[in-house]
Amino acid sequence: MRRFIDLADFSRDELLGLIELARRLQARPEPQALAGKVLGLLFMNPSLRTVASFQSGMARLGGASFVITPGSGTWQIETRDGVVMNGTAAEHVREGVPVLASYCDALGIRSFADGKDLAADLGEHKFAAMAKLIEQPLINLESAVNHPCQSLADWKTLDELGIPRHGKLVLSWAYHPRALPLAVAASTVHMAAMRGMQVVVLQPEGFALPSAIIDKAQRAAAASGGSLRTTSDRREALEGAHVVYAKEWASTAHYGNEAADADARRSLTHWCLDESWFAEARADCRLMHCLPVRRNVAVADRLLDGPRSVVLRQAYNRMPAQMAVLYRLLKQTE
Ligand code: CP
Repeated sequence: MRRFIDLADFSRDELLGLIELARRLQARPEPQALAGKVLGLLFMNPSLRTVASFQSGMARLGGASFVITPGSGTWQIETRDGVVMNGTAAEHVREGVPVLASYCDALGIRSFADGKDLAADLGEHKFAAMAKLIEQPLINLESAVNHPCQSLADWKTLDELGIPRHGKLVLSWAYHPRALPLAVAASTVHMAAMRGMQVVVLQPEGFALPSAIIDKAQRAAAASGGSLRTTSDRREALEGAHVVYAKEWASTAHYGNEAADADARRSLTHWCLDESWFAEARADCRLMHCLPVRRNVAVADRLLDGPRSVVLRQAYNRMPAQMAVLYRLLKQTE
């Protein structure tokens, strides 16, 4: 394994192998496995879980890591090509990324969607431009439409909870005052489809996931024996659900248009998930969310603090899942 960019780059069996390795490293730690190895982490956008779980995971395998957050003690980094760099950015990714890569054995990059041009974001133009600058093992820490580390951890969480392979997972849009990226929503539907689940995307009008994301997940579902459909009918979506995965995302009908997006979401504050949403679901239906979550905006306090919520378990699983990724990437290079 040389790169961990998108779950779609791997077979179902390869991902199950990674999850099994994560379980093994949890049960039988290997504190010297990556001794002498260095992981670089470049965060073009903020993080809590991804930065901390990667650093902790690398240390638990005996390796070291460094974190660069451009503009916070290091130069701001320009990502656009062909611009006159007379603004705040003193460094360009064309130099910055290869320089960082030369100091480490594997590099992780977080670079969110610009949220202006849907086609460019769906094409992962910004992440791909950085990825081609380096030869070293590369990890996607969340790009425009992908968050494979989150989804690998979520798959592990679903397995641990005993959610049936063909169980029903509802990805529900949740309210947020601003337009958020599509990455977790896209990764989640793809992961659940690959796992073989009955996936239902519940969204208000104007917030349908782009066909490129749906079509990709449909192909994964066809290969795994799962299914995928979309609806705006909450009762019908939640009926018999094993899992509800809440996520906030941008209006795709008004992508890149801040004012129109704000207008579209203004009347949707009732898309704050609470216990009443689960009336038609299974009694043991779980609530998932990748975090961070705005309490009482996207999800109600009582739901997050109640027995349905597995958000802390999901967050914990980031660490062993990523340890498995690091192990595969860096042990192989020896
Ligand atoms: N879920 C997730 O990636 O969290 P952070 O943005 O805090 O890393």
